[in-house]
Amino acid sequence: MRILSGIQPSGALHIGNYFGMMRPAIALQAEGEALYFIADYHALTTVRDPETLRANSRRVALDFLACGLDPERATLFRHSDVPQVTELAWILSTVAPMGLLERAHSYKDKLARGMAPTVGLFNYPVLMAADILIYDSDVVPVGKDQKQHIEMTRDLAVKINETFGQVFKLPEPRINPQTQVVPGLDGQKMSKSYGNNIDIFGDEKEARKRVMSIVTDSTPIEAPKDPEGSTIVQLYSLFATKDELANMREQFKKGGTGYGDFKKELFEKLWEYFAPMRQRRQEILRDKSYIDNVLSKGAKRANEIADQVMERVRKAVGLR
Ligand code: ADP
Ligand code: TRP
Repeated sequence: MRILSGIQPSGALHIGNYFGMMRPAIALQAEGEALYFIADYHALTTVRDPETLRANSRRVALDFLACGLDPERATLFRHSDVPQVTELAWILSTVAPMGLLERAHSYKDKLARGMAPTVGLFNYPVLMAADILIYDSDVVPVGKDQKQHIEMTRDLAVKINETFGQVFKLPEPRINPQTQVVPGLDGQKMSKSYGNNIDIFGDEKEARKRVMSIVTDSTPIEAPKDPEGSTIVQLYSLFATKDELANMREQFKKGGTGYGDFKKELFEKLWEYFAPMRQRRQEILRDKSYIDNVLSKGAKRANEIADQVMERVRKAVGLR
């Protein structure tokens, strides 16, 4: 089984990224050949400063490694170290229906948030399909917001197979129902573009401040509170044991404890959860060449697979 996923280096990683994509991806590295990449070509659709893009790319590699990606088991590489993927994106774009891309939620959301409608933004799902298909991927661990992109990948693979014969495998999304949408401070999906994120490796004071700013209703301290749909309880459930979670739910219903106290409890759990990863991160930082070595080894393996698949594609469509 081949497992593939990507993450954009467009800012600091947050706990939505961790539970939605990174943790499931790290768990899957034991189950097959895993390939994970830093999607710098994709990030070009939003990041316009070269130094920022370079720094973010290294930081994503560092954070992913610190969270448990094991380079002995999984291949970690930079998207742009496999430039053949842009050739495949071109080939896929020649069969991609405009209507399919026009229906993409992520594109429509980005325009609704005021981003300029560039061709790159519009074509994003085609490049993402190429990312997945170029490695003959079977399984793609992602959060729920990426589901449509994977369905589009399958549509494009089917189009190519119908036109040119059996060229591509059809990949399956792997979405964990418990963590498919991690809520942010305002209860909406946590996202760096909504500014409602709690970062995995943020500064302690800032992380505490963010947790304390989770939006709640104005139920007074003494009154019973509803744990259903509470952002505090939802986030706490990611870090707490079953008993701890049951206990917090009880305290909610009982009344007599204010939201501030629940938030403090959530912060303590969250901070403790990532402690070993913060330590690992410091260790990685001490070895100056570690990240470069991991990425160059990763690029080599990713290129081996991509070259093979591209030869098959070029032959199938008549470029060889
Ligand atoms: P953002 O929305 O902050 O820009 P990305 O789009 O870069 O995040 O997401 C990277 C990965 O993390 C994707 O697989 C995505 O599905 C997952 N992810 C992002 N935010 C969440 C969330 N709030 N809940 C679950 N998964 C998420
Ligand atoms: N679009 C994904 C995101 O924004 C990142 C991504 C790019 C990806 N290519 C991919 C994820 C291929 C899985 C597979 O989060």
